[in-house]
Amino acid sequence: MKILITGVCGFAGSALARSLLERMEGLSICGMDNLTRPGSETNRRRMQQLGVEFFHGDIRAASDFEGLPSADWIVDAAANPSVLAGLAGHASSRQLFEHNLCSLGNVLEYAKTRKAGLILLSSSRVYSIPALTELPLRVENKAFHLDDAKPLPRGVSAEGIDADFSTAAPVSLYGSTKLAAEAVALEYGHAFGFPVWINRCGVLAGAGQFGTPDQGIFSYWINAHLRRRPMRYIGFDGSGHQVRDAFHPRDLAALLMAQMQSGRGEGQRIYTAGGGPANAMSLAELTAWCDARFGMHAPERDSRPRPYDIPWVIMSNRGAERDFGWRPETGLPTVLDGIAAHAEQHPEWLELSGR
Ligand SMILES: NC(=O)c1ccc[n+]([C@@H]2O[C@H](COP(=O)([O-])OP(=O)(O)OC[C@H]3O[C@@H](n4cnc5c(N)ncnc54)[C@H](O)[C@@H]3O)[C@@H](O)[C@H]2O)c1
Repeated sequence: MKILITGVCGFAGSALARSLLERMEGLSICGMDNLTRPGSETNRRRMQQLGVEFFHGDIRAASDFEGLPSADWIVDAAANPSVLAGLAGHASSRQLFEHNLCSLGNVLEYAKTRKAGLILLSSSRVYSIPALTELPLRVENKAFHLDDAKPLPRGVSAEGIDADFSTAAPVSLYGSTKLAAEAVALEYGHAFGFPVWINRCGVLAGAGQFGTPDQGIFSYWINAHLRRRPMRYIGFDGSGHQVRDAFHPRDLAALLMAQMQSGRGEGQRIYTAGGGPANAMSLAELTAWCDARFGMHAPERDSRPRPYDIPWVIMSNRGAERDFGWRPETGLPTVLDGIAAHAEQHPEWLELSGR
């Protein structure tokens, strides 16, 4: 089997390549990346050492796909993954649109003409921000918790958010590119007879992840705490109570493998995947974890709200477990330990992966 990974030098793309090669005998991987993400260059050599055939190219350019070998599957992991992309001070809205959505036409034409299946890495950010902010929450031990004693809307339970939760706008500019990409990919797959799987991923985290305050938060927070950088709890009264679940891309690789091996052509195509309730943590809890490991360092409180911020997101793995027997295996403490060890070995990491 041959797999093409776009964004192969990114955090998810490179970790997926490594993990899929470990898990699948006889697999060969080729990958394309334009190396725009600061830090992604560091993965080019690593990928080549693993035997990944690397192509320096841009998914926005149709001609960059012409020279690529044919693959049985494409894993599309090239994107601008920041929820603030498109807003002032970040990538422009046009750039976001071109990288995350216009480029999809080239990916889909490749799948159509080369008869490849497609796996899209979508996001928890496709969900409605008003619906998420209206969820009933209570504060316990410095973290928001879903108050499931109260009536809950469709698509959310104590296990987390599933594929049925509202995707009504606004979902953020970034989230809208992902949501639109899902619809177009499913339509191409249906029209031209190739399999499409869509995974709405919660936060991915692990050693070697590039980190900024708006993307790669676990990596950013641990590196910034260790280096005693100024840090801020933004919004939510400056409390740091906002909660995310996190999982390692090597666990995602197991789900991708199950999807590629499934011959099922009908039924559910969109799944949620994440760390789940067991792998969830608030920023304040993450600070406490860092304090215990590196010594005390207090973030500032900045209660001004930031666009698109949401207090609580945990992804449900119920569908993926039912249909693929999948659940994340790496516990959050192991993920955090890995990031911390990497941070200790790479004092320059924030500069290297900063925008
Ligand atoms: N990291 C997360 O928490 C998370 C969560 C949900 C979904 N996702 C999705 O997973 C995918 C990978 O995210 P990541 O965290 O690895 O991000 P990343 O920034 O680490 O990796 C993205 C890679 O894509 C490359 N790239 C960007 N635009 C490109 C283009 N036009 N042509 C070729 N290469 C291009 C970048 O150089 C980078 O190496 C994205 O689609 C993202 O939306 C990520």
